[in-house]
Amino acid sequence: MQPASPPLAPEVSLPLTTPVAELEQPVPTPVAEVEQPVPTPVAEVEQPVPTPVAEVEQPVPTPVAKVEQPVPVAEIELPKPMPMPVIVPLARPETVPAKKATRTPLLRNLLAEVVQARQAEEQAAAAEALANARPPKCKAHVVAVVSSKGGVGKTTLSAALAGCLRLGGGQTLSLDLDPQNALYYHLGVESGSIGIGNAAHCETTWKAALQAGFSGAKVLPYGALSDEERRTLEHRMSDDQHWLAWQLDAMGLCEQDVVILDTPTGRNLYLQQALDVADEVIVVTTADAASFITLDQMDHWLNAEGARPGFSTCHYVVNQFDASHELSRDMLEVFKRRLGKKLMAVIARDKTFDESLAYGRDPLADPQISLACQDVQVLAQQIKSRFANVRASGLHA
Ligand SMILES: Nc1ncnc2c1ncn2[C@@H]1O[C@H](COP(=O)(O)OP(=O)(O)O)[C@@H](O)[C@H]1O
Ligand SMILES: [Mg+2]
Repeated sequence: MQPASPPLAPEVSLPLTTPVAELEQPVPTPVAEVEQPVPTPVAEVEQPVPTPVAEVEQPVPTPVAKVEQPVPVAEIELPKPMPMPVIVPLARPETVPAKKATRTPLLRNLLAEVVQARQAEEQAAAAEALANARPPKCKAHVVAVVSSKGGVGKTTLSAALAGCLRLGGGQTLSLDLDPQNALYYHLGVESGSIGIGNAAHCETTWKAALQAGFSGAKVLPYGALSDEERRTLEHRMSDDQHWLAWQLDAMGLCEQDVVILDTPTGRNLYLQQALDVADEVIVVTTADAASFITLDQMDHWLNAEGARPGFSTCHYVVNQFDASHELSRDMLEVFKRRLGKKLMAVIARDKTFDESLAYGRDPLADPQISLACQDVQVLAQQIKSRFANVRASGLHA
């Protein structure tokens, strides 16, 4: 026998066939889908996507154009940082004036530029012409005493020549172009403080600053210059190659006057100025090896293009010649062969110059007792005859 089955509950009291568990679970329904905030085109509107407004503000085509393309919904939902291409066009307004700058300049501006350039050229040409302008040839005879080696006797001979080289009716001026400022002392002048370098500063002219020296010579010292005054003087010389010519011109010298220029050793501004005005260049040398090796250099300086005017002539003087020494005699022979007719005179070595300088005496006061002073007088005669020859040939004019 089968056990009896438990009595079934009346069907009416049973709940619906649907399992209770299923009913309690909120089954996704279409309703639930509706409640979900499904991205819609509305989201596109809410997003501050770059809009055509940005394009309006930035007239130049920019990456903003990409925004015009349909944007996928997925991209919008992502919290991406806003692309910033709009920043780039902010610099654009600066490029606008650049377009204005390239505009063709006005005709009047172009003309003004041309006129300005022409005037600048004319001014430069006038300044150059002024710098190169030189006064007429000095009426006086000008002798420049030069050398490439120091201590040969330039100043000694300049002073001695000033005392004995004189033309009838004229005066002989001795100008010191050497910053050593020793010439005035050789000529027995007390003070050399005012001279060529500072006469203007002292409100005087070269002519007024001349002082009376031995044997009727007139001397204009170099002057006791400060460093600043010397720099100023040398600037003037370097700015104007005819500076000395202008100074002599202002002195109003006449044809019977003689100017003797003592110069510093070597090639320098003073030498250049002296060569520029000299009728006669006297190169002082000594009959020794040290002087001999400088002869080529001196030739080079004297014959450089534009170094001296065409009318000038150059001669050599061997000074301090000691006939008692065989080497000196042989060296003089070498100099004679080297210089030929350019060797104008030989001056003996003589203690008279040193003694006269030491005691403040005129070495030419008694030429008979000094061999060297007699030699200097011979030299002065030779230079005078050259003046006469040059004048007769009309070269001096
Ligand atoms: N003929 C000469 N005999 C003896 N001594 C001389 C002679 N000529 C110049 N001296 C001396 O030579 C030295 C240099 O002379 P200086 O005229 O000052 O030379 P530089 O001007 O060429 O430098 C001086 O002591 C001077 O007395
Ligand atoms: Mg000297």
